[in-house]
Amino acid sequence: MSQRLPHGSQLSYLTHINNNGERDQLELHLEGVALNELAHTHHTPLFVYSKAAMLDALAAYTAGFVGRDALVCYAMKANSSLAVLQVFAQAGCGFDIVSGGELARALKAGADPDKIIFSGVGKTRAEMTEALGVGIGCFNVESLAELDVLNEVAMGIGQRAPVSLRVNPDVDAKTHPYISTGLKGNKFGIGHADVVAAYEYAAALDGLRVVGIDCHIGSQIVDSAPYLDAADRMLDLVQAVEAKGIPINHLDFGGGLGIDYAGDAPPKASALWAELFKKIDARGFGERKILIEPGRSLVGNAGVCLTQVLYLKPGEQKNFCIVDAAMNDLPRPAMYQAFHEIVPVQPRLEVTTTMDVVGPVCESGDWLGHDRNLCVQAGDTLAVLSAGAYCMSMASNYNTRNRAAEILVDGETATVIRERERTEDQWRGERML
Ligand code: LLP
Repeated sequence: MSQRLPHGSQLSYLTHINNNGERDQLELHLEGVALNELAHTHHTPLFVYSKAAMLDALAAYTAGFVGRDALVCYAMKANSSLAVLQVFAQAGCGFDIVSGGELARALKAGADPDKIIFSGVGKTRAEMTEALGVGIGCFNVESLAELDVLNEVAMGIGQRAPVSLRVNPDVDAKTHPYISTGLKGNKFGIGHADVVAAYEYAAALDGLRVVGIDCHIGSQIVDSAPYLDAADRMLDLVQAVEAKGIPINHLDFGGGLGIDYAGDAPPKASALWAELFKKIDARGFGERKILIEPGRSLVGNAGVCLTQVLYLKPGEQKNFCIVDAAMNDLPRPAMYQAFHEIVPVQPRLEVTTTMDVVGPVCESGDWLGHDRNLCVQAGDTLAVLSAGAYCMSMASNYNTRNRAAEILVDGETATVIRERERTEDQWRGERML
């Protein structure tokens, strides 16, 4: 079996032992759990996550932070299921949130409010009030207009809001344009040239307390160079702001580190941080508190989506493998032309055919993989890999499809962490005429 499984996934093909004690069939396992059995018991589409893979991914960061004052704030937009959040909260992580909904989820999962940072270009007054009410650690502010509103909201309840300004370093992260965020033309952050004035403005407002600086240049970054450039530009700004008498306590380098989807080879988190610290130390900022906001790199390769083959549809130009998962469950191929490896859970040994793996949704954009070489029959289970990040958290009910169930695997134990949605759940809150 030559199937390549992504780095850090805790996936392996193990030989199944049948009732007579004979080895018969290769079966894909996540940690110690056979995925075919899970698919049969819990049905498909089904997301399955490995707790060990998440903790290993986190350990790659913490290994790079030994001896430093550093906090990992998991960017929960990548996967905001409560049990996933619990894994990170129990491991001591903070959270990077972008909405009142994410704040509520993080708190429900046991997050320490002081370790929550609130990012995003469009926070509402209501969201600011809630976040101030529970005492979050920091607001990452993205415009002067937002500074004004936050100041007003904080003064209104007799508080000083802790703020960091998100700077737009104008660095090309060399990733998909929809997930690149650190260029001048992006809606994110305060332009490099305006940052010092924005800090002076913030420092003069009575409802605000400047605590940090942050940047985030994009997602699925597989090269250290853009990080090093962005760090340089951010450290220049720290110097310039502090020269104006405004101290900056923490430096937040955002998230963005990529994962192995298709043989991609991003630097290991610990190796990237060794490089970054060389730079940070050389510039005399080694003692500062460091924050980071990784999402994908903590959960992406910890999850798979199991799906059943419904029909094979050979054609003149294309062969189609129609499965029961679709763009509503796995939106990344449709949105970003993203590649997710697709492998059989119980491989067949006959010759493979080239086919497009597609879902049942009524759109030609509903594809999960183009031109894949597979040997499958109707009824087989396939695993869509690297599905731990930006899949379930972006899932929708398009075509009135119920969102999938989720399972967390820990060693040989599999726990249902989200029941499959029911159609009644979908129309709860709707009113008939
Ligand atoms: N911090 C901020 C301010 C962000 O905007 C993001 C992601 C992160 C941290 C986490 O980035 P990560 O470590 O996950 O790369 N849906 C897209 C990805 C969108 C990322 C948005 N921002 C996808 O499926 O590729």
